[in-house]
Order: sequence, then C-alpha cells, then structure tokens
Amino acid sequence: MNIKKDFSLKAYNTFGIDAKADFFVEVNTVKELQEILKNDAFPQKFILGGGSNMLITQNISALVIHVNIKGIDMVADENDHVELKVMAGENWHQMVLWTLKNDFGGLENMSLIPGNVGTAPIQNIGAYGVELKDCFTSCEAVRREDQEIVSFSKEDCEFGYRDSFFKNEGKDKYVITSVNFKLTKKDHKLNTGYGDIKTALKEQNISDPTIQDVSNAVIAIRNSKLPDPKELGNSGSFFKNPIITENDFLPFINKHPEAPYYKVSDGKYKIPAGWLIEQCGFKGKRFGDAGVHSKQALVLVNYGNATGKEILDLAHKIISKVKNDFGITIIPEVNLIK
Ligand code: EPU
Repeated sequence: MNIKKDFSLKAYNTFGIDAKADFFVEVNTVKELQEILKNDAFPQKFILGGGSNMLITQNISALVIHVNIKGIDMVADENDHVELKVMAGENWHQMVLWTLKNDFGGLENMSLIPGNVGTAPIQNIGAYGVELKDCFTSCEAVRREDQEIVSFSKEDCEFGYRDSFFKNEGKDKYVITSVNFKLTKKDHKLNTGYGDIKTALKEQNISDPTIQDVSNAVIAIRNSKLPDPKELGNSGSFFKNPIITENDFLPFINKHPEAPYYKVSDGKYKIPAGWLIEQCGFKGKRFGDAGVHSKQALVLVNYGNATGKEILDLAHKIISKVKNDFGITIIPEVNLIK
C-alpha cells in the first residue's frame, strides 16, 4: 500500500474542495482495509468513499483511507430475481447501468446518483419515489475497532429518510465493504408515479415503459436540474427536506397556500427545502465561488475555488433566512467534515 503525504483531496470529493490530507492511502481489498485499520502508526483515520456527500471545511489531520474495492458478484439467480453482492468501491451509476444492461429491475429510478456503492446505505440514497432500502437485502462492514467483518440485515440498518444506523449509533464505527441487492428478472415493478417521470415519459409518447425507459427519463430530469459534479462542484441536495408537525404545518400552509408539500404520515408534512430557499431569494445567487444552483435551490455549488468554509458560511446564511422567513429549521444532508 502506497501511503502519500500532504495529499490534495480535490479530485476525491465532488464539491471539488482543495483540502489536504496529512496522509492518504487507497485500499483495493477487504484485507488491505483490515490491515491499515490495524496500523497504530496512524491513530487518526478518516474513511473516504466516493466523496459525493461531504463538505470538507478544513485540512484533514488524519490518514485518509480511500475505499476502492471493486467487484460485482451474483450470489443468487432464481426464476424471478437475482441477488447481487456489489463491492463498496463500485461507482453507483456504473453499477445501475450494469444492472439495466442485464435487465435486472429495481435501481432504475436511482440512475445518475453520484457516489460509490459503499456509502449509499449510510444516507439511504433515494430519488423519484425509490430509496436504496427498497432493493437492499444486507451489507458487510469491517468494524474499525477490531477489524472483524460484520453482516447487517435490512432491519439492523434502521433506514429512514436520508438516514440509517450508520449515521447514528454506528457512526464512524464501521467501514461498509459490500452491499447486497435483490433485483427482479421479470415482471419489473415500475415506479413512474413521480410527477416529473410521468411528464418525461408522456413527452416521449411512451405508454408502456421498460426499466431502461424509466432510467432514461430519470437521467434526462436529473441532467436538466442537477449540475454534473465534473463541470460544477456540488454534493447533490445540500439540505434535507424538513418534516414538520401539523401544529407548525397549519399556520404555514394558511400563510403560504401555494407551497408544495407531501403528507408523510399522520400529522407529519414534508416541505421541499428547495422551494423555501427559492422563496428566500437565494436561487442562482453567487457569493464569490460559492453559490446556489440556478435550476435547483437545494443544491449548493462550487464555481471553482470556493473553500469548504465559504460553502458552509453560505449554508448558514440560508438556514438563518429560512428560519427567519418561515420559522422552519432546515438541516444539512451532507456530512460536514470539521
Ligand atoms: N422546488 C422549488 N424550487 C427549487 C427546487 C424545488 O420550488 O429550486 C420545488 C419544486 O417545484 C417541487 C418541489 O420543490 O414542487 C420538489 O422538487 P424536486 O422534485 O426537484 O425534489 P426535491 O424535493 O427538491 C428530492 C431529493 C433529491 C431527489 C428528488 C427527486 C432530498 C433532500 N432531495 O429533491 O435528491 O433527486 O427529490 O426524487 O430529498 C440528493 O439527495 O442529492 C437529491 C438530488
């Protein structure tokens, strides 16, 4: 394993923040990961997957371990479904494309989400009516403390909206090394209820879509709203959509009857943070090299040389204004590395 010193992480985080790691190493196997976790010469260790859901606000005084373990294995092949074991370092979207090429259904709505497979369960990634948990069966992780391999069932992961065990009690305790998915081989269950998907399919006169059609629609929608991290640094949705109780919701909707919302359960309502931020006048605004995307206000962008601190300052400015104007607290979805 080649340990590098004073290593720039710019190419390793989709925000394109030019922060440095004291030390950096890439691991290509589970064994290498176990070995480096055991190494006492580096007491501070930081795990980096695809770098797609983090904002690095300062240099990292640690050994950054980049998990780059590759491979896709078919662990079960039944009449109507397959189960895949996908290693953590596989790129999420490339993996989705591979499943579509094989006509395995389930992941198509989550096409084009940036990042790697190993980090996807941490925040239970989701888009257009489908979440990772809908196809997830289990995952394996190395426990950092004793380097043992631990298996997690779906229940163990305690998935919620952009949330899991790995963001709570399990935070910083495990490194996910592989994820298993159960996907359909036939009679695919399409999720085309999301408004934008319906419209995209209709525009193309597709009345009986395949999983490939749904993926194409999702790719077209995402490309029209969300910036490509290769062209404009970003981490997807910077904030979670806030969920408020009926007590807060009723006065809010009375005052803003035009606001979009979704009822998530009895007495709980989700308000799109992008709408709140747009109403506050931030959409398309630029402050130096930090900005709010012009087509989706939920996405903060780096126009080139913004520091993590500058993006964070902008986030705080937005949080305060939304709180001030609507009385609603929005919280970051991305991992803030401080
Ligand atoms: N809206 C605005 N202004 C904006 C953005 C959105 O008014 O600038 C309004 C839209 O008009 C619409 C509503 O907000 O009425 C919802 O917008 P959209 O369908 O774009 O979805 P979202 O709630 O903003 C969430 C996810 C996205 C995911 C989309 C589609 C979160 C935090 N974000 O965004 O996830 O792609 O739904 O399912 O839940 C990500 O996590 O990185 C991500 C992009």
